[in-house]
Amino acid sequence: MLPKSGVIRLLCFFYLLLSVHSNEQEEVVNRSMFPDDFIFGVATSAYQIEGAYLEDGKSENNWDVFTHGPGNIESGDNGDVADDHYHRYMEDIENLEFLGVNAYRFSISWSRILPQGRFGAVNPSGVMFYNKIIDNLLLKGVEPFVTIHHNDMPQVLEEKYEAWLSPQIQEDFVLFAKTCFENFGDRVKKWATINEPNIHAEFGYMRGEFPPQRCSLPFGNCSLGNSDLEPLIVAHNMLISHAKVVQLYRQKFQPTQGGIIGIVLHAFHYEPYTDDKFGHQAVERAYTFYIAWILDPLIYGDYPPLMHEILGKNLPSFGEDEVELVKGSVDFLGINHYTSFYAIDCLHSTDCLPTENRAIRGFAGRTIARDGVPIGDEMGVFGFHVVPYGMEKLLNYVSRRYPNTSIYITENGYCPPSYLQESEMLHDFNRIKYYQTYLASVVQAMRKGAKVKGYFAWSLMDNYEWLQGYNITFGLYHVDRKTLTRTPKLSAKWYEGFIANRETTNISSF
Ligand code: NOJ
Repeated sequence: MLPKSGVIRLLCFFYLLLSVHSNEQEEVVNRSMFPDDFIFGVATSAYQIEGAYLEDGKSENNWDVFTHGPGNIESGDNGDVADDHYHRYMEDIENLEFLGVNAYRFSISWSRILPQGRFGAVNPSGVMFYNKIIDNLLLKGVEPFVTIHHNDMPQVLEEKYEAWLSPQIQEDFVLFAKTCFENFGDRVKKWATINEPNIHAEFGYMRGEFPPQRCSLPFGNCSLGNSDLEPLIVAHNMLISHAKVVQLYRQKFQPTQGGIIGIVLHAFHYEPYTDDKFGHQAVERAYTFYIAWILDPLIYGDYPPLMHEILGKNLPSFGEDEVELVKGSVDFLGINHYTSFYAIDCLHSTDCLPTENRAIRGFAGRTIARDGVPIGDEMGVFGFHVVPYGMEKLLNYVSRRYPNTSIYITENGYCPPSYLQESEMLHDFNRIKYYQTYLASVVQAMRKGAKVKGYFAWSLMDNYEWLQGYNITFGLYHVDRKTLTRTPKLSAKWYEGFIANRETTNISSF
């Protein structure tokens, strides 16, 4: 007779097999459905995994200060130790080797490299740390894919001139990027300038939930800020900073180093809440005010016409030189995609919250259910649901609006809701199913012409998830919070088999 755990595994196996076959995606996805040169990777970011928060010359960054503020993080967690990747990076690189990934996306901690920004010197220990990472990745045949800025920045920039609110940030960001190109560009050939400028603007300056906690009513009760204006200013400074870095890279580094450079955006897909003209217009506005807001300037040189129409003079403008600077300033688009929402038309519906019935939101609300039915199975992050077809529709939108632009899925992943966390801790069938169905959706989009060049699973390992601390687990590897021991989940074994193009529906062979 099979032991109890064997029975459970067998049941899960049949469940997985059935669910994959009965899903809206008809084919079972496998590696050979992607081109040979397609990149499969995993992603992390510095603050979420490194720890070592004041070691070897690193200064305090905005997230160090914020997480140490009483009551800011409900669980009281912070990234002081995180996954202690700073000391355990060799083990993590071995895990990358086990997975057989082609590339590893990670970010550089700004405050480790330039602890005082442009007001101080480069920290050689910081540079050395990333050199060790890059060299060891290359030794294992894993390509480094580097995000220059992923949320964390030296606190001193916030204190000196309010960081992204000021055009002064451009000089600092260019120096940071230049330092990265000079020190790592001989080996790093794929660069993303900024991770999720749209999320940063929304959470830091509209909702006031991320540092520097700026907002105004009705979005939140912050001591400083203006939720209707500041997100626009911050995004504007991020766009110009990005473009200046790309200009520098193209003029001074790309000709000899030969890499590519892009930006990473957070992207939801939106379904219409009502299947009428207004519902579809709400979808268009939701997409425009979240995605085209950032991408239109980088491809076409200006904000979308719909944003001009709705925001009028509140929308910052690009001077003539700036139009030339930002236009075409990406070699690729990075897309972080996890979930989908229904978009509600706030111009005609009374179902919207006061925070959604605003010009800065494009008068489009987000909701998770229609007629009482949730859009998909619940995930651990509040509001996130499993909606595989959303990936294809999102990629279709991006490809239609920005044809001929290469796309990397720079993040995609699953975290279980709290009631599944224990049962799914190592035997994470839902995560495997998520990856299978979302990857199948990527295939569908590629067949329709989306130029997707790579896919990064979020995340290599459980890590520090911003406002939710360690309660949210996205990893392919489980990290024990007390011992920091890494253990591969079933999904890690599945991903390894998938990348190696082995039969992966039969989990009993893992
Ligand atoms: C996107 C962010 O880039 C990453 O830092 C975060 O952990 C994931 N979303 C999951 O929420």
